[in-house]
Amino acid sequence: MPTLDNLQTAFNGESNARTKYLAFAKKADEEGYAQVASLFRAAAAAEEIHANNHASVIRKMGANPKADIAPPVPKSTRENLATAIQGETYERDVMYPAFIKEAETENNRQAVIMFGGALAAETEHARLYQQALDNLDQWRAGKRDFWICLVCGFTVAAAPADRCPVCKAPKEKFKIVN
Ligand code: FE2
Ligand code: FE2
Repeated sequence: MPTLDNLQTAFNGESNARTKYLAFAKKADEEGYAQVASLFRAAAAAEEIHANNHASVIRKMGANPKADIAPPVPKSTRENLATAIQGETYERDVMYPAFIKEAETENNRQAVIMFGGALAAETEHARLYQQALDNLDQWRAGKRDFWICLVCGFTVAAAPADRCPVCKAPKEKFKIVN
């Protein structure tokens, strides 16, 4: 079933993204971009939620989630942000739209929801990374708070006023990562 393969691909991708972003966060801290480090940690937390969500559907389909983690090779924070934007953009524009289409064809409602949740978050990640890259000098000292929906991984830069716009979880389901 293509959707099972797609879930494995997504699980592998999210697991690797998480590892990569944590390494990028460390590098950003070393270079004095503490607020970029916060963003990388927030996105890493979101990717972990996506990975867990994909894993739960994989298990429900009777398979075992498998990830092959490549050791990350961090470069400068500027380059790491560009790499991150590239990855998020690919997931947003190519990977998740194709996976959603396939899951709809297979009538796999849960996969559609998980892929859709990831797509919404990756869109926001790409936007936030671009913002950081465009204003790198303003992303230095101190930490920056991000709010992560623990249900779907949605990531926002300000406290949510109401329910999660993606999965409709109550705002109490958001946690701050910085
Ligand atoms: Fe992401
Ligand atoms: Fe959510």
